[in-house]
Amino acid sequence: MADSLHMADIARRAWCTPDERHEFRERLDDCGFVVLDPGDTDDLVLDDIMRGLGEPVAYNFGTKLTLMPDEGSENVQFTTRGMPLHADATFNAGPPVKYIGMHCVTAPEVGGETLVASSDAFFEHAPAELLETMSGIVVEYRNRISGYYKDRPEGDHPRLAPIQVDPETGGKRLVIGFSDADDPTRTHDSVVVGYGEEESAELLREISAVLHRPSVLYAHAWRPGQVMILDNRRLVHGRAAFPGQPRKIVRLSVS
Ligand SMILES: [Fe+2]
Repeated sequence: MADSLHMADIARRAWCTPDERHEFRERLDDCGFVVLDPGDTDDLVLDDIMRGLGEPVAYNFGTKLTLMPDEGSENVQFTTRGMPLHADATFNAGPPVKYIGMHCVTAPEVGGETLVASSDAFFEHAPAELLETMSGIVVEYRNRISGYYKDRPEGDHPRLAPIQVDPETGGKRLVIGFSDADDPTRTHDSVVVGYGEEESAELLREISAVLHRPSVLYAHAWRPGQVMILDNRRLVHGRAAFPGQPRKIVRLSVS
């Protein structure tokens, strides 16, 4: 467990220089994510790093996903838009994702940060009243991008409590995925079950605002060659927009 639950401190401990790389498992356990810097002479190989963490998750596109802008894409992942915070494997029928590995090939000069918000930091810093409200709700998710990940049967919309206990880690876990209703390329819709449209949007906005506090969220500005590993059970993640710029990240998730 982390010493301090302020995300700025967590992020400091999560960053491994080439000399500290042998400590990355401990840091991953401590922080819920790590950033690995490439060495001067050796390249970081995503497959090798992820092999020790689990079995690659195979989707309809395979195990490796290249995330880069594709002009005219109808899927926000392949645009230069921001991606709201979410936990992976929440909306599709694939296996639960434990770790998400990302390797940066091309980094934008401005924006395009990978955003990570720690569950532990959220539970530490969120107002008690909000946590109490959250413990009494479930959120329904409707996937909007079909044929890409592993689809659930038609009409099967998962309903998930936002605060759960992870069966493996035993830790309290935040399971949530936000969506921008105005973005036609959004991957899913989320609504609080039993709430009116406005009331649901307002509560989700409130939760998202706490997740974006500096004490809870870290924004990683990429440098080419870096690898980042996220524990999907202990963080939610997203992306900042990077209009008009290149960005190429290769992703490999394990279960
Ligand atoms: Fe994701």
